[in-house]
Amino acid sequence: MTRTADPAEARPIPVADWVTIADLYADPFPLYQRMRAEAPVHWVPAVNRYLVTDYAACHTIEQDQDRFSADETGSLMKRAMGHSMLRKDDPAHDVDRKAYGGVLRPNAIKKHWNAVFERNCTTYLERLAKAGPGADLIAEFAAPYAAENLRLVLGFHNATQDDLQRWSQTLIDGAGNYADDPDVWAEAERSWHEVDAAIDEVLPRLREDPDHSLLSGLAHLPIPLEAIRANLKMTIGGGLNEPRDALGTTVWALLSNPDQLRQVLAEPSRWSAAFEESVRWVAPIGMYPRESTGDTVLEGVLVPEGARLGVVVGAANRDPKVFADPETYDINRAKQPHLAFGGGNHFCAGAWVARASVVGVAMPRLFDALPHLRLDPEAPALSGGWVFRGVLRLPVRWDRG
Ligand code: HEM
Repeated sequence: MTRTADPAEARPIPVADWVTIADLYADPFPLYQRMRAEAPVHWVPAVNRYLVTDYAACHTIEQDQDRFSADETGSLMKRAMGHSMLRKDDPAHDVDRKAYGGVLRPNAIKKHWNAVFERNCTTYLERLAKAGPGADLIAEFAAPYAAENLRLVLGFHNATQDDLQRWSQTLIDGAGNYADDPDVWAEAERSWHEVDAAIDEVLPRLREDPDHSLLSGLAHLPIPLEAIRANLKMTIGGGLNEPRDALGTTVWALLSNPDQLRQVLAEPSRWSAAFEESVRWVAPIGMYPRESTGDTVLEGVLVPEGARLGVVVGAANRDPKVFADPETYDINRAKQPHLAFGGGNHFCAGAWVARASVVGVAMPRLFDALPHLRLDPEAPALSGGWVFRGVLRLPVRWDRG
């Protein structure tokens, strides 16, 4: 069915007053199914936003910053982390993004970061193997591995991976503090000051003694300190949980689908398909905001000026108009671009780091190091979240080698 672009013919946006935050957190996918079947956009009072669940509508928003700005009014992310590139439109966004240079890109990964990922993977796998033959794979492997990788790529030589985990979680909690909880703001503020202090200390050291890290690159550019601080906070928030959750979901999906795991183990070039299907199936960043700059028609519905939109890529990635049997994890599905890394000018700057560290290193090494890796039959895995979604707890067992 063609959807009108004519405001006179456009449909009003329905209200989804049956959506609750608790249901979204526990399992958003049945809610998304119902919403998508009804309309591409809903007003959802529980989250005080228009949620966009249709693939075509999400894709249009990502590609059109003139109609859909990333610089949201009253943004909690700006309050929690400062005004980073993620909340700017071009040309201001482009200045910050270009300052990241090639640090997170394939050449640098090949030359510098793959060896770092290998080393970190060895460290945490050895610890895991010693502690086993059972563990929570998220707490004992995925989280510290993702945090230590990020710490070194960013250049926080004066912090630990535990610091990175704490900063990331508290800054993200601040950016999502819709309940305006003063304790959450206090924690986020504490991390804000700690990150600023760490940056202030490390920048002069990196000017004297440069390396390949992001902070080292930024230390040599004439950019305002405020921009460095905000962009680093955003990248700490956005660069840790996502590879952790992508790794956790991929392992969980494969262990739950032994036929597909056998295929991947027999044909290691399929690790990539296993990862891409996992981030399609459960997008680690499930929703991100935009704001309409004027009255506009989006896939046949009328969006008013100033609408606070939630681009729900977690729902778009399961749109049956685009993906056959979308609720199923299937590494053999027909190739079709997913939206898990976003699109347009804000396309994830860390997508190559995520793929290299998870697909290139962690997945094959994990299954190689832990013989007969399997889900713990006595302790079920637990998933949660919708703005960010992942496996919170993944108890696994293996045989001693
Ligand atoms: C599986 C892992 C990851 C996923 C699914 C993911 C997803 C995303 C998404 C959806 C966006 C766009 C958000 C928006 O438009 O509002 C984004 C932006 C971004 N991501 Fe990632 N990300 C991942 C890993 C990483 C890593 C490892 C890093 C850093 C090392 C990183 C750094 C960034 C940065 C800097 C941006 C902002 C880009 C811009 O505004 O131009 N991400 N990511």
